[in-house]
Amino acid sequence: MNLHGKIVLLTGASGGIGRAIARRLATEGAILILVGRTLPALQQLAQELDLQANNGFVLEADIATHGGREKIRTALLALPQPVDVLLNCAGISLFGFLTDNSPEAIEQVIATNVTASILLTRLVLPFLHREQGRILTVGSSFGGLGYPGFAAYCASKFALRGFSEALRRELSDGQIQVGYLAPRATNTAINSPAIMAMNNTLGNAMDEPELVAAIAVKMLQATQMRDRNIGWPERLFLRINSIFPRIIDAALRKQLPIIRRYANTQSAPVAVAPVNNATISTRLS
Ligand SMILES: NC(=O)c1ccc[n+]([C@@H]2O[C@H](COP(=O)([O-])OP(=O)(O)OC[C@H]3O[C@@H](n4cnc5c(N)ncnc54)[C@H](OP(=O)(O)O)[C@@H]3O)[C@@H](O)[C@H]2O)c1
Repeated sequence: MNLHGKIVLLTGASGGIGRAIARRLATEGAILILVGRTLPALQQLAQELDLQANNGFVLEADIATHGGREKIRTALLALPQPVDVLLNCAGISLFGFLTDNSPEAIEQVIATNVTASILLTRLVLPFLHREQGRILTVGSSFGGLGYPGFAAYCASKFALRGFSEALRRELSDGQIQVGYLAPRATNTAINSPAIMAMNNTLGNAMDEPELVAAIAVKMLQATQMRDRNIGWPERLFLRINSIFPRIIDAALRKQLPIIRRYANTQSAPVAVAPVNNATISTRLS
């Protein structure tokens, strides 16, 4: 798909990966509708990208609320043409062992990552271009590999992966394409200091959001959109996990004391990102 002049609805645009995707899409000439909860961050990005000059705009909306999603519907109703791309990038995470996660925090992760993304996709589908519409959902490498300390987050990303796969098949007799992108750990504010410290101790590298953005845009530009897992060792371990999960169990068992130590320092339920699965390679080797 040539993105020039295409309308892209991007959630999570005020975050690290979303911002990088927005910048990349802007250079391709896409018309951007940027969604987030933090208006100043959205406005700053809009100014940087000169959004208005290209008929783009920002929407301050909490997608985990009915009111937030209705705000998006109202904006789409006013559009003179269909939306070409829905990019589900908004997300939160939760670090800590399950019994230390508050029920509210667990509910929030599922409500934001799973329920809101699914309901928003359902809402946007009738507005999507029938012949060339695309839905791209940002999952995580933790959507294919359960990792200690991230039980609820993993559950939400596994759910998103299943959702995306089922929807792709549900729409396969039409021309709307559905894709899923799984980044590994990426250097954004979603990572708490405890996670940063844990990654450091475990020797995990982090991708920059610009790399994730480049891959997301490439996926959209491809004639046939294909799911992507970022990172070579991560892809290998996702594959091993799907066939021989006990091998991964053993590798992660060795990391458990370190993960527990950092999980215990994570006093409040804050947003965090998954550990780079390269960790596992260290332990397997
Ligand atoms: N960074 C990583 O290590 C990593 C790795 C794998 C996958 N991911 C995934 O990549 C996506 C983007 O994460 P990021 O790293 O860019 O994190 P981030 O910098 O914290 O950005 C998260 C974005 O999601 C938005 N958001 C959260 N809850 C929302 C809600 N209820 N309604 C509307 N917007 C909401 C935030 O908006 P406000 O800030 O305006 O509230 C922000 O724009 C997430 O789905 C995350 O799970 C990240």
